[in-house]
Amino acid sequence: MSSNATYIPKSALGRWFESRLPVMGLIHSSFIDYPTPRNLNYWWTFGGILSFMLGAQILTGIVLAMHYTPETSLAFGSIEHIMRDVNYGWLIRFLHSNGASMFFIAVYIHIFRGMYYGSYKSPREVLWILGVIILLLMMATAFMGYVLPWGQMSFWGAKVITSLFGAIPAIGQAITTWLWGGYSVDDPTLNRFFSLHYLLPFMIAGVVVLHVWALHVVGQNNPTGIEVKNIDKDTVRFTPYATAKDAVGLACFLIFYMWFVFYIPDFLGHADNYVEANPLQTPPHIVPEWYFLPFYAILRAIPSKLLGVVALFGSIAVLAFLPWLDTSLVRSGRFRPVFRVFFWVFVAVAVGLGYLGSKPPEGGYVIAARLLTVYYFAHFFIILPIVGWLETPLPIPASIAEAVLPQGGSAATIGGRAAAEPSTKG
Ligand code: HEM
Repeated sequence: MSSNATYIPKSALGRWFESRLPVMGLIHSSFIDYPTPRNLNYWWTFGGILSFMLGAQILTGIVLAMHYTPETSLAFGSIEHIMRDVNYGWLIRFLHSNGASMFFIAVYIHIFRGMYYGSYKSPREVLWILGVIILLLMMATAFMGYVLPWGQMSFWGAKVITSLFGAIPAIGQAITTWLWGGYSVDDPTLNRFFSLHYLLPFMIAGVVVLHVWALHVVGQNNPTGIEVKNIDKDTVRFTPYATAKDAVGLACFLIFYMWFVFYIPDFLGHADNYVEANPLQTPPHIVPEWYFLPFYAILRAIPSKLLGVVALFGSIAVLAFLPWLDTSLVRSGRFRPVFRVFFWVFVAVAVGLGYLGSKPPEGGYVIAARLLTVYYFAHFFIILPIVGWLETPLPIPASIAEAVLPQGGSAATIGGRAAAEPSTKG
């Protein structure tokens, strides 16, 4: 992270400690004095919101784990026990189950923000790829978490998804048996899913540290996509400016989250999961949680099971190659009129796939899912490279300050870093 040489604690104890472990200096240079582009909009508050949600999921999850029993004959009952007998158990559970959905809403907005403003482009490729790894870990965590209440959807969802590995030639069946810990989804499966569901969020936290570290090495992108050139004119201190904006963004997000928790806590869930798992009775429609629906649609769109599995994983893995698939030299969608249109078409296609994932795989739904799946991949492999080569971008301002301050603005009169304090950066 950025240099912490300028931080001197006020108390003698603080100075004693700092000379032995300069952790306060690291926090100061990363979250207080850190030079933040002055033009960040509210889409940039979602990284902070995600950090908050990760903490909230870990805290509520730890309390739930104190009362939950990962055993097939007791799991469903232990959730009812949490809902009815544990003090505020219903609240902790609804915070956690709706929290998972909120986490995904925030991460999808965060990813689309990155795609629109070209935040994945050089020099932020590693930062972006760490994000894709976080997304994969989040998906694994959410999938295993959904199995724990041992309802009908938990059981059948687990069965459908783990059986997918059976499509791998020669070793597929062995992998599925290994994942299950037996010959069907049963006690060993539930136990290991619980264990991994507890572990993975801490791994996510570790990758988030790397993610934010990488962010502080290369610096934040911003809505113009222009790199910081003059630290005094183009940036403001992280605290109070970015912290205050993040707090407003988080407050609005929490209102939305609490609306779900207190008014419609089961809206995003499935009624079948209030029925205990029954391995002898398949539900009429097996559907995953909403945040998996676009990928589920891609899986089912392809007639061959093996190719469906490849497309499912490919649809996420392709994100990691985005920095190289987008050939444009201009970063932000703000100055890319053609790209902008295709970006919004892509958003609509992703939402459309989500809708189709919730429908039974028959008739027109399958045809539509196939068309949208082809478009999904064409966006990355055909549209982005070609648009990048052919598009004529709009004129790009010389600097962030020129783009957002009157006549390129004098920072001293507007209230930027230069006005607030002398710069500590080169
Ligand atoms: C637990 C999940 C995540 C957390 C806590 C997190 C945290 C953050 C934070 C705090 C920032 C800086 C503030 C901001 O730009 O919003 C950030 C930036 C960024 N994140 Fe994430 N992130 C997560 C997931 C992801 C994912 C899944 C991706 C992409 C696949 C991603 C890609 C990026 C990029 C490219 C930036 C730089 C944005 C810019 O400067 O324009 N992040 N992240």
